[in-house]
Amino acid sequence: MKFTFVTLFQNIVEGYFQDSILKRAIEKDILHIEYINPRDFSSSKHGKVDDTAVGGGAGMVMNPQPLYDALNDLKIKNRDVHLIFLTPVAKSFRQNDAKRLAKKSHIAFVSGRYEGIDERVIEKYADEVFSIGDYILTGGELASLVICDAISRNVDGVLGNSDSLTIESFETNLLEAPSFSKPENYENNGVPSEYLKGNHSKIRSLKLALSECKTKFFRPEQLLKHRTRKSYEK
Ligand code: ADE
Repeated sequence: MKFTFVTLFQNIVEGYFQDSILKRAIEKDILHIEYINPRDFSSSKHGKVDDTAVGGGAGMVMNPQPLYDALNDLKIKNRDVHLIFLTPVAKSFRQNDAKRLAKKSHIAFVSGRYEGIDERVIEKYADEVFSIGDYILTGGELASLVICDAISRNVDGVLGNSDSLTIESFETNLLEAPSFSKPENYENNGVPSEYLKGNHSKIRSLKLALSECKTKFFRPEQLLKHRTRKSYEK
């Protein structure tokens, strides 16, 4: 699967792929990453990419011309590219989006800096627009990395153990039950004794009860969704 990052700040993005799981996926040729800098497409002498907002307002907005030319070029060279724009003015990215988008062959993330991107670029080129949450970042790069990471771990071969994909938080609208590693007793704190007894059906029931507790405490609206779905499935 190929990811293209359209960004003025390649350095911010690059570091994330230099370690751990995604680095290995790149080495195994499962993931391919490339970068496009809109500044390289600017028709202005000094590589200008932004300007003040028409109609007033604070800050600078990214001009249409460099992005139009960069994205035209990208689409001509890659007919099947799926273009995602990152902005706080969008629907929230969710786990089901990560699973759905993992089936694409090529995704490009377009990150805005400053006060955002000229709306005409989004209207012309966006296949989808995502926010990663109700807060404002200084640019879309972090958001594009969050989404790229969430998608990548659903791509075949990226995670070593595909079991870890089947029982995760949000798959059933429940948050995951707590996990413990060795030792079984650490600084006088033991792990739940049922986890140690090897009765897998009892462990499953306990984990479900703990999942429900966590969800009720941290995300009560998710518990409601879970229960509605359960009663619908009956
Ligand atoms: N750019 C700035 N803030 C953002 C957010 N919350 N999500 C996606 N892109 C952004």
